[in-house]
Amino acid sequence: LPGQPFINEPDTDWTVPANRTWIHDCRERRLAAEPEQIPVVIDGEEIGYDFRGTGSDPSRPGVVAYRYALAKMSDVNNALDVSERAFADWSKTSIDERKALLDKAAALIAAERGEILAAMTLDGGKSIVEADPEISEAIDFATYYARSFDALVNHSDVEAQPLGTFVVAPPWNFPFAIPCGGVLAALMAGNTVILKPAPQAVLCGWVLAQLLWKAGIPKDVLQFVPAPDNEIGKRLITSEKTAGVILTGAFDTAKLFQSWKPELNLYAETSGKNSLIITGAADLDLAVKDLVRSAFGNAGQKCSAASIAIIEAEVYDNPIFMQQLKDAAESLAVGSAWDPASVVTPVIQAPEENLSEALHSLKDGEEWLLEPTMVDNNPCLWSPGIRTGVKPGSWYHRTECFGPVLGLIRVESLEEAIAVQNDSQFGLTGGIHSLDPREIAIWREKVEVGNAYINRSTTGAIVNRQPFGGWKNSVFGPGTKAGGPNYTLTLCRWEQVALPS
Ligand code: SER
Repeated sequence: LPGQPFINEPDTDWTVPANRTWIHDCRERRLAAEPEQIPVVIDGEEIGYDFRGTGSDPSRPGVVAYRYALAKMSDVNNALDVSERAFADWSKTSIDERKALLDKAAALIAAERGEILAAMTLDGGKSIVEADPEISEAIDFATYYARSFDALVNHSDVEAQPLGTFVVAPPWNFPFAIPCGGVLAALMAGNTVILKPAPQAVLCGWVLAQLLWKAGIPKDVLQFVPAPDNEIGKRLITSEKTAGVILTGAFDTAKLFQSWKPELNLYAETSGKNSLIITGAADLDLAVKDLVRSAFGNAGQKCSAASIAIIEAEVYDNPIFMQQLKDAAESLAVGSAWDPASVVTPVIQAPEENLSEALHSLKDGEEWLLEPTMVDNNPCLWSPGIRTGVKPGSWYHRTECFGPVLGLIRVESLEEAIAVQNDSQFGLTGGIHSLDPREIAIWREKVEVGNAYINRSTTGAIVNRQPFGGWKNSVFGPGTKAGGPNYTLTLCRWEQVALPS
């Protein structure tokens, strides 16, 4: 609520039977509904054309889940013009006005939690337990950015000047919270926004845009522009009218944007190849639990996921540990995201390239502790895979695969473990399991990641408590963290107004 301090939004309590009935009904309604037709929305005008884009449901491949329009070049140019005009007024709104709108947005998201969750199941193949915290995170972004910006700007002598139009290009793996965070941070800082949803998650972007308009964000200030990834999408990024781009996506995408426009004002959170160290001093029961969660939550499709465990020899050579790890991964229920019992749900699309390679083939000397298999004849649905004998510097060590695969690397010492963990072009998340404070102290000093996790999973950063963002090639731009105190501040320029002293 306005004026109140920031408090993280709680997730739904699924032990309450009424909550289970409620979400069941929300999801059944969405499942039974006719496929939506989602327009491009420019200055409030819905542009339909032929709805060329199709959205799929990873739990039911082949079913058209929704259709969406794709912007033409003229639409993109119009959106950029509209945004530029809207900026003149929006940039002059007071911080209190914008804060009130973000608080309203948070309240609406909370009120629509069930509908949003159902859209995420349809669009992203998200289980209830994965989707629900994401909605809490979206609410947190709204209330947190409103308060952090207010605290730092309203109560300081420095003026924050917004920059202009921001293009927000979110990923499909957190299809609601990440676009919500990017859009609201840019708006709170006084910028106007063009939201270009991820092609695999247009529905979630659409649900978000509608909620934000309903909260009172003007339709020229926030526009919704699904655009093809060709010259048309490129125009959004390279236009002289675009003041900044907030991207969450692959490293290669960020590099591509930079190659199009070297001076681009880019705020990007990109790839990772995250690992979790397990030393001889770890609580192994806890390590197994956290490793399985880090590797296979949302079928491994989190930029924060641990796709490698770096394990000290005495643990690696312990058959009881290996059996426990195998049992824990094997016991995860694999199935449709519509089935509330499913823990590992489908990946967003049938595996290609790196993920396909990681699921299908072993490299020199590697073996399966647990071989992944396709489930229910659904090319998107895979049981967890665990590869042993992964060598430092090998293909698997180097390659982001983004799916339900974990590789195990054996090392002789903590020192070697840290060297292997740091031997990566990426530095997003990293973890250690050890009950020895000396080991933890050494690791903390040396680890090269943006989010370093001790004796817990590497996923599930909470706004304000674990501001999220990487290091090395996992980040482009100022490197301020999403859900952290200064994120909104980097979306402005700062003006120090000095009077004669
Ligand atoms: N913030 C997410 C997590 O921590 C990743 O984007 O899992």
